[in-house]
Amino acid sequence: MTIKVAFIGFGGVGQALAEIFIEKKKKLINAHDMEVSVVAVADLMKGSVYRPGGLEVKTVLECVRNDGSVETYPDDHQTIKGWSSIETIERCNADVIVEVTYTDVQTGEPAITHCHRAFEKGKSVITTNKGPVALAYKELTEKAEANNVFFGFEGTVMSGTPALRLPVETLAGNHIKEIKGILNGTTNFILTEMEKGMEYDKALEKAQQLGYAEADPTSDVEGYDIRYKTAILSSHVLGMPILHTDVSCEGITNLTMADVIEALEDGERWKLIARIINEGDTVKATVKPERIPIQDSLAGISGATNAIVFECDLSGPIMLTGAGAGLKETGFSLLIDLIHYKKRQTLAKI
Ligand code: HSE
Repeated sequence: MTIKVAFIGFGGVGQALAEIFIEKKKKLINAHDMEVSVVAVADLMKGSVYRPGGLEVKTVLECVRNDGSVETYPDDHQTIKGWSSIETIERCNADVIVEVTYTDVQTGEPAITHCHRAFEKGKSVITTNKGPVALAYKELTEKAEANNVFFGFEGTVMSGTPALRLPVETLAGNHIKEIKGILNGTTNFILTEMEKGMEYDKALEKAQQLGYAEADPTSDVEGYDIRYKTAILSSHVLGMPILHTDVSCEGITNLTMADVIEALEDGERWKLIARIINEGDTVKATVKPERIPIQDSLAGISGATNAIVFECDLSGPIMLTGAGAGLKETGFSLLIDLIHYKKRQTLAKI
């Protein structure tokens, strides 16, 4: 089965996915009977290209246009067709819109509008943008369902580590009593470095250099990034739609080196923990630094690694740990969504 995709936004994550399409071409055909045809690429900075029959993605940054000439990103900044991202979504013949624009998480735009337009046009969307899922979960999932299209957002929590699909699919039948996790690499990295004696400011600077932190690291250190992820987990995994504003939030900026060292001397560690307690009809969701015993499974998670624990009534605690960021990992999360889309299409045909 050939799946036609359009990239809306073609920055690092989009390019990482394009690279994966090239690298995994044979595997996708052999293991999943899935061929990917990129029909359009639209990028604010780089212009847009469209070809109904599919652009041949020669390398990550080169697409062959209708007339045979090669569009090279990011050197050619001209808009080929003059289409905006919305026009590309509406007019191209893609089955799946890969929504990887630079989106402001506080407004969710332009990604929310892109999702609406795609669903209205009968197109599925896969995205790694947290905004649409955290701010508009209910309306977007309902609209996708009403239009019989797929909405995939695996990468919004823990990037390529399947924190969303795993519990929904493989833990089904359990009652999940509680979800707790370390869902932000930057803050966990800073706390780990502080335990080794590095000052907060230096550790934050290092996290920025290593590319873990958001453009504005306030979102990381004040816990806002985790708050969005917590809302997504509650809505999607527990079926309890909440907004980020329903999650009480405290970051790590009040923790001092003395606090961190004192905890260590007492056999404990400070960790920035997201916790959702399922109370039946409601949830209690918090993000705050917690002092946990060193034997606790989450205490052993160091550096930029993320981890999540699902406390289940039948299977007991199930823990998942892995990368929470990274271009390749985030690109992979989109591939998981795309393979899932393909399975859904195959089932619909039976
Ligand atoms: N800044 C985030 C983190 C990236 O440090 O985990 C992924 O959302």
